[in-house]
Amino acid sequence: MEQYLAGLPSKNLKPLWNRMNAMVPPSPNPTAKPYMWKYSTSLPDLETAARLVPEEQAERRVLMLVNPSMPPPHTTDTIYGGLQIVNPGETAPAHRHIAFACRFIMDGEGFTAVEGKKMPLKRGDVVVTPTWHWHDHGNESDKPVIWLDMLNLPLFTYARVHFAEGYAEKRYPSTPADVSDWRHPWGPVESELRSQSGDHALYHYKTKDGKPLSTTLGMQAELISPGKSSSVSQDSSSFIYHCYEGKGHTVIETPSGETHTFNWESRDTFAVPTWSKIQHFNDSDKEEAYLVAVNDGPLLDLLGLRLQ
Ligand SMILES: [Fe+2]
Repeated sequence: MEQYLAGLPSKNLKPLWNRMNAMVPPSPNPTAKPYMWKYSTSLPDLETAARLVPEEQAERRVLMLVNPSMPPPHTTDTIYGGLQIVNPGETAPAHRHIAFACRFIMDGEGFTAVEGKKMPLKRGDVVVTPTWHWHDHGNESDKPVIWLDMLNLPLFTYARVHFAEGYAEKRYPSTPADVSDWRHPWGPVESELRSQSGDHALYHYKTKDGKPLSTTLGMQAELISPGKSSSVSQDSSSFIYHCYEGKGHTVIETPSGETHTFNWESRDTFAVPTWSKIQHFNDSDKEEAYLVAVNDGPLLDLLGLRLQ
């Protein structure tokens, strides 16, 4: 047998039988680990970046949320997240790319123009830039605007199809459009969550025709009532969770059996690997807790690979 095995590599052959467990594990086997980025820790570094990185690089003035067990652009195995800050008076050059992007506005007020529709960015908004749509963004206010960027960048480590193109001018011609298919203000989302009964409410962001926000990434918002918790859930989708408002904790049990407890408050962000069991708790007896999350459920659904 030994002699036989030794002779295989020179013919670019390898035996499956002694690697079967690695190829077909008994449960999903994420490389990503659960991890939380406290906003109180990240904000001073983001503010320093705002001073050090010039306007010409405003598009790239982002602190990537790097999973501790993976290289960038991995926040989870399939989703990238980053914190972006745009200073007053800045605009980022217009461009388009294959990657799908959504952003959750954390603080301040700015704008994003997508295919000529210039939308305001306000705290709590979800704004998407679909694949290959011209977009630019900026800040016409007197305070920095900060958002959480969420993109499907890790997919392009496998499908090598990603690229970007700069627009010939700095700005793509645009006209103001408060309402558009690409902006989802917080108000209606909160109303929808509050209209549901029970300890825990869940809302899936949808396009006008009732589909997830993209073919790869979807967004959801959750409300946990004061002093209550969600039930335990398990999904082959991975998640980047972000606390919009409130204070609580989430217990995450990974498929390998590790348990992590993250104590979160407003603006904290945490990564949940695939097939983890998760349960959210609102630690306040008086205030609601609101979480938003990006997930790769649409991709898994379209591929027929999802289990919940
Ligand atoms: Fe972009």
